[in-house]
Amino acid sequence: MTKAKKLFIKTYGCQMNVYDSSRMEDVLKPLGYETTDGPDDANMVILNTCHIREKASEKVYSELGRLKKIKKKRSENDEMIIAVAGCVAQAEGEEISRRAPYVDMVFGPQTYHNLPEMLAKAHRAGDETGRGILMTDFPAEDKFDHLPDPVKPEGYTAFLSIQEGCDKFCTYCVVPYTRGAEYSRPAAQVMKEARQLIAQGALEITLLGQNVNAYHGDDGHGGEWTLGRLIRELADLDGLERIRYTTSYPAEVDDDLISAHADVPQLMPYLHLPVQAGSNRVLAAMNRNHTREQYLEIIAKLKAARPDLALSSDFIVGFPGENERDFEDTLDIIRQVGFIQAFSFVYSARPGTPAAAMDLQVDKVVANERLQILQKLLMDIQTQFNEDCVGREFPILLERVGRKPGQLVGRSPYMQPVHVEAPLDFVGQIHDLKIISARPNSLGAQIIHKVRNSA
Ligand code: SAH
Ligand code: SF4
Ligand code: F3S
Repeated sequence: MTKAKKLFIKTYGCQMNVYDSSRMEDVLKPLGYETTDGPDDANMVILNTCHIREKASEKVYSELGRLKKIKKKRSENDEMIIAVAGCVAQAEGEEISRRAPYVDMVFGPQTYHNLPEMLAKAHRAGDETGRGILMTDFPAEDKFDHLPDPVKPEGYTAFLSIQEGCDKFCTYCVVPYTRGAEYSRPAAQVMKEARQLIAQGALEITLLGQNVNAYHGDDGHGGEWTLGRLIRELADLDGLERIRYTTSYPAEVDDDLISAHADVPQLMPYLHLPVQAGSNRVLAAMNRNHTREQYLEIIAKLKAARPDLALSSDFIVGFPGENERDFEDTLDIIRQVGFIQAFSFVYSARPGTPAAAMDLQVDKVVANERLQILQKLLMDIQTQFNEDCVGREFPILLERVGRKPGQLVGRSPYMQPVHVEAPLDFVGQIHDLKIISARPNSLGAQIIHKVRNSA
């Protein structure tokens, strides 16, 4: 038995990074690494980073500064390996070791299955500070072929990456450069991982991909499964109660996927379908490949398939060339669709992307003012939606105990956190609950005496 070593992973960015971090734990577990809650007692610290906006990537360097101080205090036989993973690692590579020479490893999102090899190299390099190991290869295929089975009990909800990378090249976005080309995992590999997650207790699986509806997984017989097909096959697995998928690219939502929303009851009536902006001029400049009218048409079809469907979105304000009129169009599409949840950001110019070189960059003050207006509108809609839930009954997946005694916390089909006074053994079950109160970010519920049969 090797002595247990401590691993701390700090995760930034999107759900794909959350998934990757938990897979890194799986890769390192056989090498004796157990997770710990902070860097102070860690023998290995991995920052799994995000490059999407300037602020996100700059955070990494301030965190590295803090880690440097901890590492300095370590004795010879209490090693601390510092690694930078994820999208900043991919985008900045050696630049990281130049700015922070005490960093031992830099590796991209498609290479972490090589961690054992990188660690062996690090140990061969002795205890110099900054071992200079760099791995930033593509593609994703290799990673998925070499990852071990997931070992971490994932709780009742689990993420499953089915697709990596993006070929869409929206003009503001770094993801095609940091994650590489689109790649879909073979259908059998995805189904196997889903079965393992269900066996570990997952009642809900969220399928992940930078562009998840571009999924076209090899079926092993010369054909391919679409996302719609995959969802239907997953729905047939015993024990899987809820299916979600994120993030989708509107221009690639096809009729097969729309009909899955009508046919598959396990597919939750809630969809994150980022529109970014409501003006056709801005959408074209962003290279989103659809107009405002086409987006609204997709929503109409989805709602015809699943009338209780609600939507969430991401928005970018202050894209180069965005004028007041364009911004009004964005507010207008928000009112029309009634997004019940959203992430919104001021445009951040990313080096190397086409939009960074566009004329008419919007003044930061103006962009921030627009963001405030947009966020107020989104919050009003979200609050109203939550209030309209009062009096309705929803199946709630009870995930954990709450802060107050006797209280449990769960999620509605619309991802709203729900608090309820309920017996402890309800944790890990889905119960129909009556919503009795609403706040901007959560709901309160009450048990109705009718237990849902989970078979
Ligand atoms: N694949 C997803 C988005 C992934 S990035 C999609 O196509 O919708 C997550 C979000 O970050 C994007 O939806 C966008 O709103 C935001 N984002 C991406 N690049 C940005 C930039 N340069 N400045 C500000 N926000 C950005
Ligand atoms: Fe980025 Fe566009 Fe790809 Fe989404 S679809 S990851 S925004 S390039
Ligand atoms: Fe960030 Fe990379 Fe995800 S840039 S949003 S962590 S794909």
